[in-house]
Amino acid sequence: MERILEEVERIVEGDGSPEERLHYVCRTLEREVPHYDWVGFYIVDTRDEGMLYLGPYVGAPTEHVRIPFGKGICGQAAARKEAFIIQDVAREDNYLSCSINVRSEIVIPVMDGDEVIGELDIDSHSISPFRDWDRSLLEAICCMVSPLIREIRERVLGN
Ligand code: SME
Repeated sequence: MERILEEVERIVEGDGSPEERLHYVCRTLEREVPHYDWVGFYIVDTRDEGMLYLGPYVGAPTEHVRIPFGKGICGQAAARKEAFIIQDVAREDNYLSCSINVRSEIVIPVMDGDEVIGELDIDSHSISPFRDWDRSLLEAICCMVSPLIREIRERVLGN
C-alpha cells in the first residue's frame, strides 16, 4: 500500500492538468491492483449539484456519463456521503450495470470538508474481492485527490 500511496502522491504533486493527473491515478490503480478492472472518477456538477458526471477513467467506456444522486451505487454513495462496498452486484436492486463482466464495485466519496465533490468508483470482474485494505487505500487516495477535483470544479465555475 505504501508504494501505491507514494506514487499517487508524486502524481498529485506533479505536472499536468488536474484531469491528466486524475487519469494517471486511475492508471496506477488499475495497473497495481489485479482485481481493479475499471477505475474512474465521478465529479459533482457545479451547475447541477444533484448530479455526477464522469471524469477521468481507465477501462471500458460506459454509458453512465451522468448519474443523479440516489441512483445506482454511485448516486447512493454521493447522496449518503458514504463508502459503498458491493461484493456481488447481482444482489443489488439499485445498481447501474456497465458491463456483464462486472461482478463487484467499490465507491468512495471525495469530500471537501462536509461537502461531497466527487467519488472514486472501481469495478471488479471478481466476486467479493474487496478487503479493509482496499477501503483504507482508496480513502487515503480520495483525500489526496480532493484538491484536484476542487480545482476542476472551481475552473468550471469561473467560466
Ligand atoms: N455501476 C455504477 C455505475 C457506474 S459504472 O460502474 C462505471 C452504479 O451502479 O452507480
